[in-house]
Amino acid sequence: MIYKTDAEIALMKQAALLVSKTLAEVASVLKPGITTMEIDKLCATFVKDHKAIPSFLNYRGYPYNVCASVNDVVVHGFPDNIPLKEGDIVSIDMGVILNGWHGDHAYTFILGEVSSELLQLVRVTKESLYKGIEQAIINNRVGDISYAIQEHTEKKYGYGVVRELVGHGLGRSLHEDPQVPNYGKRGNGPKLKENLVLAIEPMINLGTREVFTESDGWTVKTRDGKPSVHFEHDVCVKRDKALILSDYSIIETAEKANANLNSNYY
Ligand code: MF3
Ligand code: CO
Repeated sequence: MIYKTDAEIALMKQAALLVSKTLAEVASVLKPGITTMEIDKLCATFVKDHKAIPSFLNYRGYPYNVCASVNDVVVHGFPDNIPLKEGDIVSIDMGVILNGWHGDHAYTFILGEVSSELLQLVRVTKESLYKGIEQAIINNRVGDISYAIQEHTEKKYGYGVVRELVGHGLGRSLHEDPQVPNYGKRGNGPKLKENLVLAIEPMINLGTREVFTESDGWTVKTRDGKPSVHFEHDVCVKRDKALILSDYSIIETAEKANANLNSNYY
């Protein structure tokens, strides 16, 4: 496992924050009628204007700058020219390389009115991310993070926790050890040491946990066609309290200021 120096953590924070700023831009422009392809272009331009490189494009052949996962798409949705509509939820996942360091995080937005059931799924998935982050402290194990997320989503609400995709270490590479599943047992897995950076990313389904990959080789969807929510933060393991390198507050401020978005759940 690769542990970072404090100086490297400071650089990684800049990369994570650039993703947050990009997602805040997304939060300010999202509305019914906009397409995820427009979002893709806007994000790529914003990142390049900030002297960084969109990292997903061409990663293992991924063909776009962002992942835009609408409704029953769990993750890795391709941006397309279909206008978003009232009642959609969309997760925008973006990665950048800034000064050689990766930032990679995601946020799920709600367009207008949705059922209270769906609102709760979004709230609980975001809460579960923070429950996981609380466990990202030294001498805990990866399984403590996994367990906290699974408890809050599957055990408490009966949601489906996706098994096929996991969080990961982050650094000079997009994916480093360890894997960070969103399900597991307390006290299991690798021990956490100071300055390990993790991308923690619960992918939580309203219905069952079953998913499948579309024939495009990327788009992951729920088997039952019910919606799925994805939130992701970049987090640095510390002694008493994890340091969150990405920043939802700027995204949430933009989200609340945008009357086309529904933020009535927190
Ligand atoms: N957040 C996702 C991950 O860490 C996004 C990867 S999409 C890809 O795996 F295009 F880069 F593969
Ligand atoms: Co990730």
